[in-house]
Amino acid sequence: MKHLIDPMDLSVEEIDGILDLAKKIIASPKDYAHKCQGKKLATLFYEPSTRTRLSFEAAMWELGGSVLGFSSADASSAAKGESVADTVRTVSCYADIIAMRHPKEGAAKVASLYSKIPVINAGDGGHQHPTQTLTDLLTIRSLKGRLGTMTLGLCGDLKFGRTVHSLIRALMRYENVEFYLISPQELKVPEYIREAMRQKNIVFHEVERLETVIGELDILYMTRVQRERFFNEEDYIRLRDSYILDMEKMALAKKDMIVMHPLPRVNEISVEVDKDPRAKYFDQVLYGKYVRMALMMTMLEV
Ligand code: CP
Repeated sequence: MKHLIDPMDLSVEEIDGILDLAKKIIASPKDYAHKCQGKKLATLFYEPSTRTRLSFEAAMWELGGSVLGFSSADASSAAKGESVADTVRTVSCYADIIAMRHPKEGAAKVASLYSKIPVINAGDGGHQHPTQTLTDLLTIRSLKGRLGTMTLGLCGDLKFGRTVHSLIRALMRYENVEFYLISPQELKVPEYIREAMRQKNIVFHEVERLETVIGELDILYMTRVQRERFFNEEDYIRLRDSYILDMEKMALAKKDMIVMHPLPRVNEISVEVDKDPRAKYFDQVLYGKYVRMALMMTMLEV
């Protein structure tokens, strides 16, 4: 049995297989409408979510399976003090696969140690978010036609941004990917990721101003400054509007650059940008459902 806790749990070949399957599902969803008949997905969400939880649930319904679970810790026996270990032991008796989000780094790994069924990490604190990465890779491959040979700018909260950590680590395995890491000093990418990039001779630049580098980018990946990860409100208020992508900045970008964002967005992309054909964050949302269909089919071996 295989779990998905970290994007590095999947080889490049396995990722390619999942993306290829997602492409087939997009082309002919009816052919997959009964693939998970009789299967049950448990969504255990100890932290809020719109896209991840609902796309997992929509994905399982569209595969002909069923869904059970909870959308907040308060709605489960975690509120009475039950451990993650005991919860997943219990859920293993009711479902075939688990998607779990938790505010603590490493919680999904703990769950995998006690679960009798495959566990998918749907986000663990500021650590990793591997299914967002699969979503991002499918979006990039579908819209750019490749996963290598590109210049990618990641902008915003790169310190706590689990989507950023997972995406960098996944893309480091492809050829000729150059990174611009655009953040305030306080929100730089963690040292363990920078060290991993140095070890693999990945070209990366750390800068503070988006305007100075936006013209270099094939992809701009915006992220939210996450209030829930800060220890004090003053720091959040000082940093929250560090970057606001508007049409003035978009005018400096390449004509074929694409803008991605894992969402939710707050102020970091002005709504006027939504109308620009280069804004692809809502396409990304839809790719997220298809790639989770492909992932669950692969993990359930159906
Ligand atoms: N991208 C993402 O994880 O969104 P949600 O928090 O809404 O699930």
